[in-house]
Amino acid sequence: MDRSETRVKYTASGLKNIGVFDSGFGGLTMFKEFLKVLPDYDYIYLGDNARAPYGNKSDEVIYNYTKQAIDFLFKQDCELIIIACHTASAKALRKIQQEYLLKNYSDKKVLGVVVPIVEEAIKLSRYHKLGIIGTKATINSDAYKKELEKLRSDLKIFQQACPLLVPLVEEGWVKKPETKMILKKYLLPLKVKQIDTLILGCTHYLFLIKDIIRIMGKNVKIINPAIAVAEKLAIYLDKHKDLEKKLSKNKKIIFYTTDDVIKFKELGQRFLGKSIENINKIIL
Ligand code: DGL
Repeated sequence: MDRSETRVKYTASGLKNIGVFDSGFGGLTMFKEFLKVLPDYDYIYLGDNARAPYGNKSDEVIYNYTKQAIDFLFKQDCELIIIACHTASAKALRKIQQEYLLKNYSDKKVLGVVVPIVEEAIKLSRYHKLGIIGTKATINSDAYKKELEKLRSDLKIFQQACPLLVPLVEEGWVKKPETKMILKKYLLPLKVKQIDTLILGCTHYLFLIKDIIRIMGKNVKIINPAIAVAEKLAIYLDKHKDLEKKLSKNKKIIFYTTDDVIKFKELGQRFLGKSIENINKIIL
């Protein structure tokens, strides 16, 4: 089949949506929180499932994939896009905002997850010893570290890439002893450093939060990325009334995936915690 035939016809509905983008299912954990805090808006969720995971990919690939996703969502009449994926936020957001957006969509907004999470972490950290866990790409980018250091210069920051956790969560291995063992192996070096706050810098880690709390102990504050981002999004919309007024509020949600619709429905429901309808397949 010709590639163009499989593309969705872009229909300008006149409605202004909030776009939510992730490499796949993980962003649904964040989207779940948006729906709790900001339930009235119209949303378009895009998961690039066919090309996920992004976490082990190169800078150039992550940037190009993210750019294509942003382009698609703006063509679906999104006024504001949240990159719910930590890897894409860490690796591509800055360049998207500073180059791509300025050139192509200068009147629109794209926000990421790093800054709101970092602000929350600084607020909660008592002794300024912070840990960050994420995909290889996120940790290698130093994006969280750099943003933290912009806010305070006296921090002690320790990072740990946890590349095995995303596939384990997607396999549904959350409660398996093997997963707990791997998690412990990743977290122990941070525990030894006696961090007081831990940033969960990946969409999937919320599924492991109980074990993370157990391993790190009650003295370590765990930053829930979904809650931090959803709360900051609400504050952002409250502050940016001109943008907020353009957003439609019919509680309409459309999902797009670049992979199989049935698979998206099955696994996506686990991530979103409720039934998913209105899923469309696209090629980016
Ligand atoms: N969504 C990604 C993140 O938050 C995890 C999955 C992936 O590697 O694509 O970093």
